[in-house]
Amino acid sequence: MKGLIESMNRIKHHIILGDLEERKKVKIVVDGEEMEAMEGEMIAAALLANGRKQFRYTKRYHSPRGIYCGIGRCTDCIMTVNAIPNVRTCITPVENGMVIETQKGLGKWKRGGSCV
Ligand code: FES
Repeated sequence: MKGLIESMNRIKHHIILGDLEERKKVKIVVDGEEMEAMEGEMIAAALLANGRKQFRYTKRYHSPRGIYCGIGRCTDCIMTVNAIPNVRTCITPVENGMVIETQKGLGKWKRGGSCV
């Protein structure tokens, strides 16, 4: 599985912050694919480390979106997380077993409701 291979996109040594401390690894499922993440890191960071850059598609033009501000202000990174749409992945930490889906448009609630 692609996601289980040690990530080439993760910074392990920073010139100012030093070495990345070892953290417990957890599993997340993204669009049906199992991926590895570090406990406590943000969902967006885990996705980028696993090579995922598109997090949602816009409602009108179906344009792909990913990280933009990275601080929870722009909503470009929203995804459906554990069946809850519009979760800002850049400020939401991963949890073991979390199920994450690419969001299309405004998202849908699993019980038949819609944000449309
Ligand atoms: S990247 Fe802007 S809110 Fe997440």
